[in-house]
Amino acid sequence: MAQPVPRLEIRNLVRRFGGQTVVDHVSLSVMPGQVTCLLGPSGCGKSTTLRMIAGVEMQDSGEIYVDGNLICDTVFRIPPERRHIGLMFQDFALFPHLSVGDNVAFGLKGTKEEKRARVEELLDKVGLKRFIDGFPYLLSGGEQQRVALARALAPRPRIMLMDEPFSGLDNRLRDDIRDQTLELLKEEDAAVLLVTHEPEEAMRMADEIALMRKGKIVQQGAPYNIYNAPVDKQAVSFFSDINVIRGVVKGALTDTAFGQFLAPGIPDGAEVEIVIRPQHLKIDLDRAGKGPLPTPQDGVAARGEVVRARFMGSESLVEIRMDFDGSILKATVPNVFLPKPGKPLWLMFRRDRCFVFPLGKSVV
Ligand SMILES: Nc1ncnc2c1ncn2[C@@H]1O[C@H](COP(=O)(O)OP(=O)(O)OP(=O)(O)O)[C@@H](O)[C@H]1O
Ligand SMILES: [Mg+2]
Repeated sequence: MAQPVPRLEIRNLVRRFGGQTVVDHVSLSVMPGQVTCLLGPSGCGKSTTLRMIAGVEMQDSGEIYVDGNLICDTVFRIPPERRHIGLMFQDFALFPHLSVGDNVAFGLKGTKEEKRARVEELLDKVGLKRFIDGFPYLLSGGEQQRVALARALAPRPRIMLMDEPFSGLDNRLRDDIRDQTLELLKEEDAAVLLVTHEPEEAMRMADEIALMRKGKIVQQGAPYNIYNAPVDKQAVSFFSDINVIRGVVKGALTDTAFGQFLAPGIPDGAEVEIVIRPQHLKIDLDRAGKGPLPTPQDGVAARGEVVRARFMGSESLVEIRMDFDGSILKATVPNVFLPKPGKPLWLMFRRDRCFVFPLGKSVV
């Protein structure tokens, strides 16, 4: 059977500014109807990557393909307006002097009737058909956002590039608009590359996440895999708070106050970091100094005392000073759990939720 051809594919894109490589051999592909999120900290090269795909920035090397056809390398270049790529950036400004309908019709070709029909269809989909003859200043931020989305989708782009398109909206509104946007993009069957520096947004929107750091993609995969099989400590901490304990490897194992951990493939004598998210630490009560009876899965329990406990809404955050070295570990517990400072508790590291990495080693 023939392999499905990606709608968008970039291969080894490189962009340098003044001797600094800000996009460093980035490759990825997006299938029709799929959303890929380019996720990474500020300055890692996300927008530059998007601008090269849009054609408003030239790469120093690498190729861009649409439906398997080369659209740009360092010799050949299809201009931005002929790439059939829809753009939606953070400052998505609507044209203030044009009506909502004319804003959406802006990039459309065809007869007046055809244009009107497409504009009505899209404004209907975003729930704003009644504003078709109104002006943008009459609309709220969220409504303007939806008009901008309709405008970007009107010419049926085969690819949508979105750069932090939701960052100007307040939280509650944002969730609704994100969901609506996603639905509409799927209906239109566009391949979507969405840039964000917010992990929650990427988890919510993406079929696939490409985690970017210092110009490179360090990990790529379904949100579930990126979250549960991170490549290094930074990849864990990008998504949540973390707890870290250290150990030294001996015979592919490391001994800690929480018992032994597997450290496969790491040489004897090497230091490792054992990383766990606060929601995966297991807490047990002191039971008059006897502590819990952990299962093999939980390893050894270690004792500590509560420093502080705070209620966060859907969970409580408990900070515990550990007896074995005085360090503070953080655990979150669903609902309300607010033990008093000084209360003794026991902690366990769930083995299926820990990550063991060589100390100081990261992908880039
Ligand atoms: N035209 C340019 N000239 C010089 N340096 C540039 C240019 N465009 C981008 N850069 C630099 O390239 C790096 C990556 O920028 P880019 O805008 O791609 O980051 P980003 O990942 O989108 O960050 P953010 O999340 O803050 O938007 C930055 O250090 C930036 O200063
Ligand atoms: Mg940017």
